[in-house]
Amino acid sequence: MKNNEQKVMLTGVRPSGNLTLGNYLGAIKNFVTRQAQYKSYIFVADLHAITSPRDPAELRIAVNDCIAMYLACGVDPEQTIVFRQSDVLEHGIMGFIMTFQTHMGELSRMTQFKLKSQNVGKNGIDTGLFVYPPLMSADILLYNTDIVPVGLDQQQHVELTRDLAQRFNKRYGDTFNEPDVYIAPVGNKILNLQNPTEKMNKSDGPNPGTIFLMDDLKLVRKKIMSAVTDSESVVRFDEEAKPGISNLISILAATTGESIESIEKRFVGHGYGEFKREVADAVCNLIGNIQTKHQQFKNPDVLDAILTAGAERARIVAAETLNRARVALGLK
Ligand code: TYM
Repeated sequence: MKNNEQKVMLTGVRPSGNLTLGNYLGAIKNFVTRQAQYKSYIFVADLHAITSPRDPAELRIAVNDCIAMYLACGVDPEQTIVFRQSDVLEHGIMGFIMTFQTHMGELSRMTQFKLKSQNVGKNGIDTGLFVYPPLMSADILLYNTDIVPVGLDQQQHVELTRDLAQRFNKRYGDTFNEPDVYIAPVGNKILNLQNPTEKMNKSDGPNPGTIFLMDDLKLVRKKIMSAVTDSESVVRFDEEAKPGISNLISILAATTGESIESIEKRFVGHGYGEFKREVADAVCNLIGNIQTKHQQFKNPDVLDAILTAGAERARIVAAETLNRARVALGLK
């Protein structure tokens, strides 16, 4: 049994576009507020970014942007091991091993796969889209992770990771720690402001319904003020009947820490205009602070030094776990 100080927390983000408010509220914030309580790892999931063809120069920039954004959001490299996934080669081999523990049916049932494979190109569905969940399992299992803070859309992948760890341990002997998912009670699925039945996605590109952490603050305000709502004019949380307003309530609650009930009470008798202004103030305040810090972390030499040190530390643990798995499998 691990004591609390040895417990491990890990999360990652795919560098597939600029980070959004959803990425922050659903995952990064929950990581940052807990980083001191765990042995913490955060990485840029760049191998996950090549599941579909990608411009290499653009990918390099996206990786650095993602690291700078982690730091601007409060990730502290003194407390947390920050690294690039592809710098630790063990991810690839472990991903391969975990893919071979997985059934086709399990991967076919993954909601993200079902959603993303709806837009099929002329060559059919990319295999990367199908097999990336076991690579994500490898990312998690390599570090003996106990807790994985993610948004709701990634919960199923962490649950698959538990199943794969259990399956492997049963077949080959105790090798992997079984991780738990951490889903924040509010903010775990931030929706598109213009289409509040769809998730806010960083890969959507410029979009009036998506708030990017690097958006100009005037634009952020405009996006919130023109968010789709309903004709009722009552600030009430009801995801089925009032998805737009419920999404804005979740954003306000997750940004400020105020409870949904308290927000509902405070806005009894007030119109949507006033409510939206408060949401815009809170979000602009948050994003403004992140942007100020982001300026300080843009130096590529500083980022490189953090990534080099992070990869060195990550590699030691990853190599140990991979070695254990290879011995268990009879590969060594
Ligand atoms: P990615 O890059 O799609 O998203 C990064 C994190 O942000 C969360 N998220 C959201 N949360 C709330 N509302 C939203 N609209 C929203 N959009 C995104 C995601 O749930 C995620 O936590 N496969 C992963 C990256 C990954 C990973 C890992 C994560 C690779 N290996 C190991 C954890 C552990 C992904 O594509 O996340």
